[in-house]
Amino acid sequence: MTDDSDFSRVAQYIEDEIGFATSHYNDSYLKRRLSSRMRRTDTADYGEYYELLVDNPEEAQELLDALSINVTGFFRNPDVWEGIRSVLRTLSSEQNRVHVWSAACADGREPYSLSMLILDDPRIDESKFRVYGTDINEEALATAQEGVYHSTRTIDIEEQLGFLSNFHAYIDRDDNRFEVTDRVKRLVTFARHDLINDGPKSGFDLVVCRNLFIYIDNEYKRPILRTIAQSIRPEGYLVIGKAETIPPQLKSAFDVLDGRLRIYQRE
Ligand SMILES: C[S@@+](CC[C@H](N)C(=O)[O-])C[C@H]1O[C@@H](n2cnc3c(N)ncnc32)[C@H](O)[C@@H]1O
Repeated sequence: MTDDSDFSRVAQYIEDEIGFATSHYNDSYLKRRLSSRMRRTDTADYGEYYELLVDNPEEAQELLDALSINVTGFFRNPDVWEGIRSVLRTLSSEQNRVHVWSAACADGREPYSLSMLILDDPRIDESKFRVYGTDINEEALATAQEGVYHSTRTIDIEEQLGFLSNFHAYIDRDDNRFEVTDRVKRLVTFARHDLINDGPKSGFDLVVCRNLFIYIDNEYKRPILRTIAQSIRPEGYLVIGKAETIPPQLKSAFDVLDGRLRIYQRE
């Protein structure tokens, strides 16, 4: 078999047997993640890796974790968070109840950033807000529920939290260990949700869905964004990742509020 048809066979197996919708993700992304597992398992090509995968349920789990990569951070792209702050202030002044959804929230640092900002800004009334955090990855969600993060050689949690003038009001710190306080946790609810296979939600005032589309095959960005658009009430807000764009067919559903920061408002 050629390398390409072996790759397709692996991708099909992952989709059918492991339940991860490979056809929605772009090939270069899938190949990068597969190569990383193949290096780890010392398999020479997709054919050999396929055999390993079929024979080892443990490898299926490892692969699933590798596929749903969850790079994230507190206040990722701080300039965008100034834009989010102004949306939150507007919502706080206009409504009695505000529902915010961090879709594809990874290990929870994005919804906790929302919660801390809501608590920190004097022009935002925290009593009006609820934040929902969802992701496809159960392990990431377990970390999110726990709310404990560590600085490492490559991850500087203190620097990430530098967006706030005083993060100590929201985080219990013990050397390299940072735990989100109960007050911050209380605003946030986590649940598993697959943006490809699960249906839309409804009535959200603001949806933040960042840095997922960069991995998604062009053809499938549209249905995911449609699911998200249906989840936002008329005139509600959407924030996508700084390197991401709204597919042309859905542009008419949104007004551009800040093109550089990728902040949109539903028609
Ligand atoms: C790079 S992280 C982005 C996290 C966060 N939004 C941010 O920008 O920092 C991408 C997340 O998308 C999640 N993901 C991938 N496919 C998904 C799907 N079909 N439905 C929901 N989440 C998904 C992954 O598990 C991962 O946690």
